[in-house]
Amino acid sequence: MLEFYPHIKSVHVYAVLASGSLFFLRGLLVQAGVRWPMAAGVRYLSYTIDTVLLTAALMLLTILPAAIYANGWLAAKLGLLVAYIGLGTFALRRGRTRQVRAVCYVAAVAVFVSMYFIARTHDPLGPLKLLTS
Ligand code: HEM
Repeated sequence: MLEFYPHIKSVHVYAVLASGSLFFLRGLLVQAGVRWPMAAGVRYLSYTIDTVLLTAALMLLTILPAAIYANGWLAAKLGLLVAYIGLGTFALRRGRTRQVRAVCYVAAVAVFVSMYFIARTHDPLGPLKLLTS
């Protein structure tokens, strides 16, 4: 399995970028009052990308030694993932007012960017270090 590691990691990272870009676009359009980003076809595309993302992530988890996560970067990323899913739901669908949807959208994008830099730096404080360096 180890020989497939670079390919699986590429699939994970491309799925991350596709998933984040789709959420960014859908969120923007929903804030503008456009309806088609919530259409069934777009939702299924989003579920498909996220399934690929998660499958590749689980494969990476089984390949890599646990020592890689010793400083807690993966735990931090997964904690933020829960927040991102919650905020994303309120940004696209569950937020009752326009203001709640907009605040949740901006927060969800910020959380997503933080997860990305935590993963890139393998450091739970990665995004903060980038801001202060
Ligand atoms: C269930 C959710 C997830 C799990 C279990 C997971 C797990 C992993 C694992 C095990 C790696 C390999 C690290 C390495 O090669 O050293 C990885 C890499 C990566 N993940 Fe995730 N991930 C998840 C979701 C996400 C999300 C939501 C993002 C983005 C916001 C993300 C961004 C990345 C990036 C950019 C890398 C490449 C890091 C590098 O350059 O070494 N992941 N992930």
